[in-house]
Amino acid sequence: MTSWDRFPELSTDRLELRAITRDHAEWYLRHFSVPEIVEGQGFPPPKDLAAAREELERYIVGLYEAGSGYRWGIRFKGDVDVIGSVGFYAWDKEHERAEMGYDLLPEHWGKGIMTEALERVVRFGFEEMRLNRIKATVMATNPRSMWLIAKLGFAEEGVMREFSKVEGKYVDEHVFSMLRKDWCGTARGNV
Ligand SMILES: CC(C)(COP(=O)(O)OP(=O)(O)OC[C@H]1O[C@@H](n2cnc3c(N)ncnc32)[C@H](O)[C@@H]1OP(=O)(O)O)[C@@H](O)C(=O)NCCC(=O)NCCS
Repeated sequence: MTSWDRFPELSTDRLELRAITRDHAEWYLRHFSVPEIVEGQGFPPPKDLAAAREELERYIVGLYEAGSGYRWGIRFKGDVDVIGSVGFYAWDKEHERAEMGYDLLPEHWGKGIMTEALERVVRFGFEEMRLNRIKATVMATNPRSMWLIAKLGFAEEGVMREFSKVEGKYVDEHVFSMLRKDWCGTARGNV
């Protein structure tokens, strides 16, 4: 079991998943201003470093300190550059559920990096956080992410019609989930 006193560091064949700290404000500004990441997530980029600091606090560092989730920075093993992030938010301990988010610099897309990171993080969710349900919401304009999440074994539950307004246009959002019993039924699940 993981000690909750310190941020859990995870690794996979190619990757290290490490804490993102308050020192990462410049990284946050750069990373969440990359147009492909902005487009995939549907959030506008932070407008400056102060806004990046505030979002970093709210969505990553404060989230962890409040016990509401984890957001790992993704690095290649032996490298210091953070190429993406992945993690849980909206962790509801009473109902044993959380939501998942992820993003990767476009130069690394299509090499199975996020598949590898998500498999590890999903395992952490079921084994260490003892979740029963993991939810992911994907915009209809993001087929790559929908393919990825379905490939991992998430079931599509339905569509929230015109849920978001992105650059003046309403966008449908698809809701996916994986339950502990789904995961136990896959080759990866063993709890
Ligand atoms: C979504 C994202 C994380 C995927 O990362 P990645 O490392 O490229 O993902 P992987 O390579 O592990 O898997 C992508 C899969 O989508 C497939 N794919 C690529 N383009 C596709 C498309 N247009 N339609 C359907 N599937 C597509 C790939 O073939 C691959 O599947 P495969 O392994 O069966 O071949 C990355 O594109 C990203 O960061 N996007 C911007 C942020 C974002 O959208 N975050 C998610 C918000 S819900």
